[in-house]
Amino acid sequence: MNKKGPIGVFDSGYGGLTVLSEIVKQLPEYDYLYLGDNARAPYGTRSFDVVYEYTLEAVKELFSRGCELVVIACNTSSAKALRTIQQNDLPKIDDNKRVLGVIRPSTEVIGGLTKTGHIGILATEGTVKSESYVIELKKFSPTTVVVQHACPMWVPLIENNEHLSVAGKLFIQEDLQLLLKKDPKIDVIVLACTHYPILKEYIETIVPSTIEIISQGKIVAEKLSDYLKRHNQLEKSCSKNGEIHFLTTENSLDFDRKATLFFGKKVRSEHIKL
Ligand code: DGL
Repeated sequence: MNKKGPIGVFDSGYGGLTVLSEIVKQLPEYDYLYLGDNARAPYGTRSFDVVYEYTLEAVKELFSRGCELVVIACNTSSAKALRTIQQNDLPKIDDNKRVLGVIRPSTEVIGGLTKTGHIGILATEGTVKSESYVIELKKFSPTTVVVQHACPMWVPLIENNEHLSVAGKLFIQEDLQLLLKKDPKIDVIVLACTHYPILKEYIETIVPSTIEIISQGKIVAEKLSDYLKRHNQLEKSCSKNGEIHFLTTENSLDFDRKATLFFGKKVRSEHIKL
């Protein structure tokens, strides 16, 4: 009762910072605790069991640091771990705490954006294989055709700041061509990995202007705002001093150097072990 804490935001690494920056823009009054599991990223190629185990550890860590609500701002973790954590783990840990993901809020919205009824999903191998986008979109937009394509090179390219090198651009062009070859009717492409918004501007220059490129940050932030309005008790448990604290499982100086690209502002993080 009356416990107050920051809103936890978790990602395998830097990508969730693109989501956090949109959340902070829309909901600046809250406190946030970001955790990037950079030491064990990327998650995209890891098995279901491993992603689940790592994500649960991260969620427990955020809970132990006072978070009552955690947003899993990682599509791979949302796809492979969220449901099990919500259904099996949360009741044992604390029934009052909540964990939300990024796939459900995105699929509630994106079906309404296409005119042709054909949507392309670009994501990690893990997210694509889980079929989570296909399954969730069926619920909200049953007639929409969903075509997925995994881009395993994009996260390493972005993490190493090689995405706009000549070789990096070739990889990105090739993946987009492969997606559009699978379904030329696609008029909405969802960047369904939190790293990919870094590529949005470049992608817009190489796909036909009739195709809309969607980043999830804004959508997730709007849905979170909505969620907090509907869950009064939980909203009251979120502290409001406008502070943001960053945790990383890797070297904190490395994190601070790279994080600016994703968060858009300078960041000072603290190293932790999970
Ligand atoms: N942040 C992850 C996602 O949104 C991708 C990065 C990774 O593979 O760890 O799926």
